[in-house]
Amino acid sequence: MILTNIGQLLTMTGDGLGLIEKASVRITDNRFAEVSDSVLTPQPGETELDCQGCVVLPGFIDPHTHPVFGGWRHKEFEMRLSGRSYKEIAQSGGGILSSVRMTRQASEDELYESGLDRVKEMLSWGTTTVEAKSGYGLDTDTELKMLRAIQRIAEQDLVTVFPTFLGAHSIPENTGKEHYIRILEDEMIPKVAEQNLARFCDVFCENFLFNADDSRRILEAGKRYGLVPKVHADEIEPSAGAEVAARVGAVSAAHLLRPSDKGLQAMAEAGVIAELLPGTCFFLKEDTKAPVQKMREYGVTMALATDFNPGSSTLLCQPLTVVFGCLLYGMTIVEALRGVTVNSAKALGIEHQAGTIEPGRTADVVITDLPDYRHLAYRVGHNPCRTVIRHGKVVHSAS
Ligand code: NIG
Ligand code: FE
Repeated sequence: MILTNIGQLLTMTGDGLGLIEKASVRITDNRFAEVSDSVLTPQPGETELDCQGCVVLPGFIDPHTHPVFGGWRHKEFEMRLSGRSYKEIAQSGGGILSSVRMTRQASEDELYESGLDRVKEMLSWGTTTVEAKSGYGLDTDTELKMLRAIQRIAEQDLVTVFPTFLGAHSIPENTGKEHYIRILEDEMIPKVAEQNLARFCDVFCENFLFNADDSRRILEAGKRYGLVPKVHADEIEPSAGAEVAARVGAVSAAHLLRPSDKGLQAMAEAGVIAELLPGTCFFLKEDTKAPVQKMREYGVTMALATDFNPGSSTLLCQPLTVVFGCLLYGMTIVEALRGVTVNSAKALGIEHQAGTIEPGRTADVVITDLPDYRHLAYRVGHNPCRTVIRHGKVVHSAS
């Protein structure tokens, strides 16, 4: 296949957008074969897709989502609107634990079907790679059930899915923390690894939940079984989550509303990617923002994700994350676009496979209806995706 008449091609190579005007791209099988600043002519048997002078960029990568869960939490949302805080609701048995109750009741088929619908909606907004976490089971059977549902979504082969074990998302009711950590270490992590159900292991690191020492212990246990660490860090209170991420060699640390300077410096030195979730800030009406300027100064690489989940972000749409990254977090358009492509690839350790348009990378592309790349941040709520291609095949077309 060749893509012709591209107005602005954002290859995302180098330090910026890697912008090529009036470009063409050749895709052979599931990979990019040629990127050109002139007109390519189709060879026999090759189809041509006319991009109508618009912007073309890599398929979005969403490196942090929770798309599999039973039920929704609209009642809690209404409670928050009337003034109750997320933490208050969580501490009175709502929050994550209410999703846990509903997820335990749901069948694997129900989790698979609702999760697949959500992933399809992400795809319609241009996401071709998604990370998907467990974490609403908090018991071995339900965590494995969630991960099997995620595996079945991956097998549909519409979107590339990377599964993450997040058994340390909360502490189940009527269980002591120490006892639960032992179950994580001795039972859940070994089974998840044995059944090859996850690539990453994540922890909700907060002083009131799994503190820095607990988090390290859990992530080190994951590492012993080949699971790559990711961390929910310093979201609600400063909890040395950034330091933990650096110490265990995590691929990314997420949220980071309240990291210490030391933590940011350690992240920069260890090459941990900051996974910023401005949609969550918006949805939780959070006044504190991730310290983007400090991250720039320390040289921390910034990725952007939706954090889609039933409690703190119902956002499925990476284009809106770009808008929030710019308007809420003060990122530049270039930073935000790198955040949803090449830097999210780094947050999953897949930068040699995806996130840029260059020969050899998997051919995951969004063909937009936009005349200029700035419209990706400027047009709030507009779906720019005319055609989405994954692994060289058209997987979504705007009707
Ligand atoms: O990433 N911060 C922890 N976990 C989720 C919230 C999950 C929920 O409320 O169900 C998050 O924001
Ligand atoms: Fe999250």
